[in-house]
Amino acid sequence: MTIKICVFDAYGTLFDVGAAARIAAGEDGRDALAAKWPEVAEYWRQKQLQYTWLRAVTDNHTDFWSVTKDGLDWALERTGLGDDLELRERLLALYWELQVYKEVPMMLAQLKAAGLQTAILSNGAPDMLDGAVSSAGIETFLDAVLSVEDVGVFKPDAKVYQMVLDRFECTTEEVLFVSSNGWDAASASGFGFQTVWANRANEPMDRLFAEPREEVSDLTTIPAIAGV
Ligand code: LAC
Repeated sequence: MTIKICVFDAYGTLFDVGAAARIAAGEDGRDALAAKWPEVAEYWRQKQLQYTWLRAVTDNHTDFWSVTKDGLDWALERTGLGDDLELRERLLALYWELQVYKEVPMMLAQLKAAGLQTAILSNGAPDMLDGAVSSAGIETFLDAVLSVEDVGVFKPDAKVYQMVLDRFECTTEEVLFVSSNGWDAASASGFGFQTVWANRANEPMDRLFAEPREEVSDLTTIPAIAGV
């Protein structure tokens, strides 16, 4: 089946979620963070995602900015940095301008040049996504930025993946969904999309009800997989 649209997860897939802690750790006067930033970044991401799943299954939705702050507070307390309020503010500010992975602009440009449609489908709140997309300078390569706020529940609820079909005239098989989160790629496969897992961290495959169609280490080969 020909791919008509490539849909990307945002955090961890296009945007480097480790960048906030890494950049802050390199700043003057942050010796405590410098020793622990990988641990802070890992706990922050794990808790942020766990909170999205728990809120989805218990029907207690809040927006992604709230779970991002909650996850950071847990991570800072866990690593003994919970009293540093200035560090907390700095890390949160950096989350609004995360670095884009280096292959992303060229990859998106190739898809657009070949006439494919492109979109982000993310847990991110619309203003967070706007901030990240514009600071990365990739807005001209995207036809849509879809936020779960329009359906009021986080991934992997099927209502989220359905947003793509509601926004674009396409069938599930015409969508190539790309995520660095194994659980997100697997869930999108279960929904019926063609999927790619960008396994940036070289992790084992999640044991779930479905599997990604393809596994890659970064996004360089997405145009080829999409048939460009
Ligand atoms: C997102 C998270 C799951 O962007 O990375 O939806």
